[in-house]
Amino acid sequence: MQELMVEIPQRSYPILVADGLLADAQTLRAQLRPHIRGSQVAIITNDIVGPLYLDQVVAALDGLQVDVLHMRDGESAKTLATYEQAMDFLLGARHNRSTSLIALGGGVVGDLCGFVASTFQRGVDFIQIPTTLLAQVDSSVGGKTAVNHPQGKNLIGAFYQPVAVLADPATLSTLPPREYAAGLAEVVKYGVIDDPELFVFLEDRCDALLAKDGAVLTEVIVRCCAIKAKVVSADERESGRRAILNFGHTFGHAIEKLSGYGHWLHGEAVAIGMVMAAQLSQRVAGFAPDKVERLTALLAKLGLPTELDQQSLKVVTVAAMMDAMGLDKKVVDGRLRFIVASELGEVAVRDDIDDGVVRDLLSQCC
Ligand SMILES: NC(=O)c1ccc[n+]([C@@H]2O[C@H](COP(=O)([O-])OP(=O)(O)OC[C@H]3O[C@@H](n4cnc5c(N)ncnc54)[C@H](O)[C@@H]3O)[C@@H](O)[C@H]2O)c1
Ligand SMILES: [Zn+2]
Repeated sequence: MQELMVEIPQRSYPILVADGLLADAQTLRAQLRPHIRGSQVAIITNDIVGPLYLDQVVAALDGLQVDVLHMRDGESAKTLATYEQAMDFLLGARHNRSTSLIALGGGVVGDLCGFVASTFQRGVDFIQIPTTLLAQVDSSVGGKTAVNHPQGKNLIGAFYQPVAVLADPATLSTLPPREYAAGLAEVVKYGVIDDPELFVFLEDRCDALLAKDGAVLTEVIVRCCAIKAKVVSADERESGRRAILNFGHTFGHAIEKLSGYGHWLHGEAVAIGMVMAAQLSQRVAGFAPDKVERLTALLAKLGLPTELDQQSLKVVTVAAMMDAMGLDKKVVDGRLRFIVASELGEVAVRDDIDDGVVRDLLSQCC
């Protein structure tokens, strides 16, 4: 079991990573209960995760009023309609200002539950129990909460930190392989942006990672959370340095969108985007060609795509990419913003990169 803190003035909170935590009712109770202030708890989960892990969480909450909302699975449920459904559910079950919400699921459940928590009765406590790798290393930490709008993803939301994050790598045993690999893309990202030793650790432990080895996963999740916690503590609202977490994402978001949401998982699009970002880094920041190769090889070994496939090549053209990136949230004052690496673990936020360089790079990939 390993614990670390996200240090934010007045709202610091622990992240606990423990392999087998959910199956161990006594330890889970000991870890959960100190974070629950009142006598009411509402768990938000979904149709997939609920049947797998809900009983274990409920078993640790004996003696409390526990109500459960099962939302529909998938990104398409991250809407204001589900948010409203959650509000109706909480009010219907008479939850009050001292209730605690628990998000049990992946990033979709976590983002929605967090947004509900941020506004129910002007804000109530919430605990994240992330069950996807992406949620364990990324979305459950940092306090970005949101729902989607027909005009775009995450357009309605709030910065709202949980009171605790409890991650159990054992839950990843039931995660579909593509979802697992998509989470690994974000893991690799942390190595590139901040932790060259993590990058080498990933290269060395590929097989253990692919086998979902509990000890290796615990180590990896803690290191990733430590980086995210450090970056978020310094810049909670992404006015500057927090943007480094978007390495590969300017390209990745555009690929995800142009290919049609659902073709690539987010992490898969980010993997392709990171290869593009590495190639851009080689051109504008002196990132060594052998490091571009190591990054590409690592992603491939972890089961991730590193280039566009035939189907997406039909729609992901250079012009479409430039256009889509121009509309991305990462544009500041009309200038495209990229995160580029000069070394493994050394990145900078750049908004001075010539459009021509980007276009030229894309013409080799699209
Ligand atoms: N808040 C943030 O900082 C942040 C950061 C990154 C991504 N996100 C958001 O996170 C969401 C994506 O999260 P995600 O990748 O976890 O997707 P997800 O929540 O849709 O989960 C992926 C799939 O795995 C299923 N699942 C979850 N846990 C499982 C388990 N243990 N066993 C079997 N199946 C399981 C889910 O039901 C779903 O079908 C997006 O909405 C994205 O916008 C938020
Ligand atoms: Zn991402």
